[in-house]
Amino acid sequence: MCGIISYVGRKKAGPIIFAGLRRLEYRGYDSAGIVTVDKGKFHRVRSVGNIDALSKKLGKKELKGSYGIGHTRWATHGGVTLENAHPHYGEDGEVAVAHNGIIENYRELKEKYLKNHTFKSQTDTEVLAHLIEKFAKEMSLKKAVEKVLALVTGTYGLAVVSVKEPNKLIVARLGSPLAIGIGEKEYFVASDATPILPYTREIIYLDDQEYAEITLDGCQIYKLNQGKVAKESQTIDWSAEEAQKEGFEHFMLKEIHDQPKVIQDAFRGRLREKIGSSYMGGFNMTDKQAREIDRIVLLACGTASYACMVGEYVFERLAKIPTDFEVGSEFRYRNPILDEKTLVFSVSQSGETLDTLVSQREAKRKGANVRGLVNVVGSTIAREADGGTYIHAGPELSVASSKAFTNMVTVLIMYALYFGRLHDLSFEDGLKIIEEFKKLPQKMESILKEAPKIKKLAQKYSKYKNFLYLGRGINFPIALEGSHKLKELSYIHSEAYPAGEMKHGANALLASDFPVVAIATKNDLYDKMESNLQEVKARKSPILAIATKGDKKIQKTVSDVIYIPKTIEILEPILNVIPLQLFAYYVSVDLKRNIDQPRNLAKSVTVE
Ligand code: F6R
Repeated sequence: MCGIISYVGRKKAGPIIFAGLRRLEYRGYDSAGIVTVDKGKFHRVRSVGNIDALSKKLGKKELKGSYGIGHTRWATHGGVTLENAHPHYGEDGEVAVAHNGIIENYRELKEKYLKNHTFKSQTDTEVLAHLIEKFAKEMSLKKAVEKVLALVTGTYGLAVVSVKEPNKLIVARLGSPLAIGIGEKEYFVASDATPILPYTREIIYLDDQEYAEITLDGCQIYKLNQGKVAKESQTIDWSAEEAQKEGFEHFMLKEIHDQPKVIQDAFRGRLREKIGSSYMGGFNMTDKQAREIDRIVLLACGTASYACMVGEYVFERLAKIPTDFEVGSEFRYRNPILDEKTLVFSVSQSGETLDTLVSQREAKRKGANVRGLVNVVGSTIAREADGGTYIHAGPELSVASSKAFTNMVTVLIMYALYFGRLHDLSFEDGLKIIEEFKKLPQKMESILKEAPKIKKLAQKYSKYKNFLYLGRGINFPIALEGSHKLKELSYIHSEAYPAGEMKHGANALLASDFPVVAIATKNDLYDKMESNLQEVKARKSPILAIATKGDKKIQKTVSDVIYIPKTIEILEPILNVIPLQLFAYYVSVDLKRNIDQPRNLAKSVTVE
């Protein structure tokens, strides 16, 4: 996820911005750049790769000036190239811009206002730089930014400097956080407080639609269409590492809480209400070609493979295309039957998982159409696929995956919707899915508010040595994922079963010291699930159920309930997984486990 750092003051801006970029490295990035301004001239250095590469490129040269901006880029529009690295200039090199987020209507803006402009990059950000510079020729930089923000759809954390207005920063926020640090006649702006803390602990956090004009004499904050706002600074007593975690105790907890936001990054600009469908830019297949696909294979490992299991169910339900999910470590040693009518998705957070990668290569060799569904931009799976889609979950630093899972499921459902609409899914049914999608962030927030209750339940259950997770239909993969989370975070033995399979063996395990976690939300299989739980209850296992809000009846059968808002069945996995993530997290906290780095596990599995 991109990072911004800016400075205006009396010191040399270059070294401060450089140090700030290093402190933003944890966010993940693939290129970086700095621009400072001195005597009406920009001094810029950019490079592909890490901050060391940037430092090498700069060598002994000095970036002169006492104000400027720096950026670490996590590619979204346009590949990982020097030209696409920020900061970007306007056409006449009078304005420089660094930007986090996605400008959805950048093509329309280009077409309408910048017809004769030549662009040096493929980024949406360069369009902003050109537009701000163009408007700033007739008005102040602040007014120009204001005017551009009113035209933009999308998200931004924005930092702008101009050679024409010395010692001034204009910064703005919508969807992408910005913190302003207040020093002694100096100001710092960054995507989070981490790079600011060595200099000052007085911080103002901008809210959405707020922007600020910052000079040596002060910082004035405005709200779009409303004018000046007065904001108090807060004194931050976090350490730098705590600041990276945005106040959460672990990255895992932060990432669980990121989900309502990053799911919007997954569907931003991809849902098409007008046709009740979706569209993924990098798919690289025409509707006609897509209609010819007669089989889908979803390839992945671990948590990503459970996302694929959900995908399998949804593709068959919406698109009516035979779909199989395959675990990479098995698929690569089979002799899979694939042809040019097969579409293979390699699904991976890191984009580097060796078993998934080798399986993808095998699928390509056999002539299948291979698409990546990946989080890390420019990763090997993304590069080697014939196209694909970034899931836009942002950097996931906790070894155990959470937000990448929900975004994988989201993107797979969007693909199923797209294929469904190419076949016999009606416009009304497509639109209903889109409408329900849009309600998810708020519903996810409401589940996260249950965290204190889930924490208490976790403390009650953490004494058990074994767990069984049960689900049916589309929720069976969620039982697997919930169990997987508990295992890897807490080191407690846990397994998952389709509830209907219990009587074929697993019932023998049930006893008062063997708790069951059951996903029993109100859907077509609810009654079946309820009778399975009666059988569990009869054998004295404690039951913790995930149930739909308003379902009082379930309380008679189970020991404890976590309630979830209602959604349509195909979207249930996105909500149901959240309490299970929180449960696994809090059990593990109670057992004092190494949450962000569980023993024996690695974030990116590049070995067999
Ligand atoms: C579990 C987890 C792993 C990964 C698996 C695949 O929380 O993180 O099971 O899901 O190693 O990794 P990616 O998605 O990077 O291919």
